Amino acid sequence: MSQILRYCNNRNLAVNPQGGNTGLVGGSVPVFDEIIVSTVQMNSITSFNTNTGVLICQTGCILENLNNYLEERDFIMPLDLGSKGSCHIGGNVATNAGGLRLLRYGSLRGTVLGLEVVLADGTVLNCLTSLRKDNTGYDLKQLFIGSEGTLGIITAVSILCPRKPASVNVVLLGCDSFDKLLDIFKESKGTLGEILSAFEFMDYGCREVVREHMKLTNPLREAPFYILIETSGSNGDHDQEKLTHFLEKVMTSGLVTDGTIATEENKMKALWALRERIAEALARDGYVHKYDISLPVEKIYEIVVDMKKRLGERVKRVVGYGHLGDGNLHLNIITEVQDQQLLDHIEPYLYEWTAHYYGSISAEHGLGFKKKNLIYFSKPRVAVQIMQQMKAILDPKGILNPYKTLPSSNQ
Ligand code: LAC
Ligand code: ZN
Repeated sequence: MSQILRYCNNRNLAVNPQGGNTGLVGGSVPVFDEIIVSTVQMNSITSFNTNTGVLICQTGCILENLNNYLEERDFIMPLDLGSKGSCHIGGNVATNAGGLRLLRYGSLRGTVLGLEVVLADGTVLNCLTSLRKDNTGYDLKQLFIGSEGTLGIITAVSILCPRKPASVNVVLLGCDSFDKLLDIFKESKGTLGEILSAFEFMDYGCREVVREHMKLTNPLREAPFYILIETSGSNGDHDQEKLTHFLEKVMTSGLVTDGTIATEENKMKALWALRERIAEALARDGYVHKYDISLPVEKIYEIVVDMKKRLGERVKRVVGYGHLGDGNLHLNIITEVQDQQLLDHIEPYLYEWTAHYYGSISAEHGLGFKKKNLIYFSKPRVAVQIMQQMKAILDPKGILNPYKTLPSSNQ
């Protein structure tokens, strides 16, 4: 990698680092004449320490393979995404991917302990430490987490992995209003506490697309909202007790209209598929306008309702789903064909709305090529200027993933 970048830098050749190429904002595909530098062959595991749970591996390891490797050793990866079967750990780190377990294990900014990165001129920056604590100077690895391949190419990762939970349960609930959904969330935080490992939601439209395009049937009665709750704990009896108590509370108080619980692996997977495969189903539904915003949790569905009203018959579908526990909404608007006038009706309205409530216009998907000019909705000018200065220091010739993430300096 070092030799490739030195070569490209000397000749002013632009490169496009590429992992599993599962990104949603065009960060992992070339735009004009960049050379694709794929990490697919850098897929070996260097070490795993069963005392500390620290895994060190090369950048091109597929997330699911890492998770399988760890499960055999009674550990798991601290992150999980729908695209786990093809995304690479290096890409996950480079985009600071969030996913389904963030609520429990936190962001990669906490679990990644060290990185090895090759800089634009081929210099190898070895910060591949396994330490939990290290306050010696600036924490440079943070610069590369979420930098989308614009500051360096991550070649190895050191990551802290939790123990595999002894007991996992998945519950799917139906619910008839977003207010009730929020009450259920509050209740789950109180009653399930530390065993709560995911709180995902999806609206009725998501149920429809998954049924239509993935042929997956939701076992519950029709409802405006569905919630998928996962618990992970160290003692099955304790977890069962907490879960029963929680379910009794939300059922008797009328917050939930219907529900099902899964403890067996296949049934849990089937319930997860209803949520995990929404993005894939939407891609088959038509032309997708995809938004990934974070907001104060009580606000996140308001914009879906608002968009439905605003766009009316002009669109095929407006759906909302996402990581409720993280205040992260995936708003998707589907049309039969691409329609510029309609797009003008959605944007910048949606971004202004998000900025008004101090939200982020890209919660977990990054900016890539498609959203780089939107950065000002979520970051002040001074912050973007500092980012541009940092880019100029680390990649003075601008060969690393150019046209991505940051707007050009004169914008
Ligand atoms: C998901 C992707 C789209 O949560 O972020 O399904
Ligand atoms: Zn997501």
